[in-house]
Amino acid sequence: MAKEYRVAILGATGAVGTELIHILAERKFPIKELKLLASPRSAGTKISFQGELIEVEATTEEAFRGIDLVLASAGSSTSKQWASKIVAAGAVMIDNSSAFRLNPEVPLVVPEINPHAVAKHQGIIANPNCTTILLGVAIYPLHRQQPIQRVVVATYQSASGAGARAMEELKAQTEAILKGETPKAEVLPYPLAFNLFPHNSPLQPNGYCEEEMKMVNETRKIFGDDSIRLTATCVRVPVLRAHSEAVNLEFSQPFPVEKAREILSLAPGVKLVEDWQRNYFPMPIDATGKDEVLVGRIRQDISNPNALELWLCGDQIRKGAALNAVQIAELLVAENLL
Ligand code: A2P
Repeated sequence: MAKEYRVAILGATGAVGTELIHILAERKFPIKELKLLASPRSAGTKISFQGELIEVEATTEEAFRGIDLVLASAGSSTSKQWASKIVAAGAVMIDNSSAFRLNPEVPLVVPEINPHAVAKHQGIIANPNCTTILLGVAIYPLHRQQPIQRVVVATYQSASGAGARAMEELKAQTEAILKGETPKAEVLPYPLAFNLFPHNSPLQPNGYCEEEMKMVNETRKIFGDDSIRLTATCVRVPVLRAHSEAVNLEFSQPFPVEKAREILSLAPGVKLVEDWQRNYFPMPIDATGKDEVLVGRIRQDISNPNALELWLCGDQIRKGAALNAVQIAELLVAENLL
């Protein structure tokens, strides 16, 4: 009989945790036992998994005993707090937070790009930042054909990236504004409904925010290529779920648009969405709930003969987080690394 695993989700009540539960069931991950962990606030809540109600437990060291795999999505400080205990308990941790992503001993993996990296794990594997995953899936197939020298990207990031409470806040703000009331901003720093603002992650001394620097550093690590130059402007937009990105890619020589289209139409995890007659291209509502990164509007950059422009949308909670983590877990199972 095929091996089955004891799996724990750390942050099971959050936006990504909820999706992890769905995706494990949907993809029939071989589970012997599923443990749902969160903060003490959620202890006792019951969540359905494959027709069974599972009670959420507060996270304790004891909870990891006998567990084979921990899928963590409860924020950096919670990941840092529990990582060594998870590894000491003999489990592999796939961590969705930024806590270990740039640690040279921790593989940072997008299965469509660097699946081989999982083999080097020492107990922790990091799941990249959501905008970085979506960008990487779309541009790596082109990079393999002809190395990308420089990426200029602007992101349009949904509320889901800031968690389940930010999504609720966007709905409440929208309702408040429609009723003529003043919207409250408690989760995100400013009202997002009918508004947008530069990404709320901490600003760095170089003027970039943390989210933008994650795109720079994580793309280089995943691609295994420190020479790629990347500059990003990350923006929060009043979309509930699914991020969008406007991407400019510069090569050392022209990259024919038709060649790019052909490559992306065959690329794993990518769906080409282009109807030039109808001016129909990827939109966050179409990407929501989908596994693929939707890519379209591929065109020659009229300002640079060596550059292409493209537009993409991807479900931040699925491919940008939960799905990528489960795909990493599937790789571990396939390669007997769990
Ligand atoms: P809880 O619902 O009990 O607060 P999101 O990213 O959608 O905001 O979700 C964050 C997830 O991380 C939730 O499941 C949340 O649980 C969990 N979490 C937050 N703080 C802790 C903590 N200190 N220990 C364990 N889980 C935590």
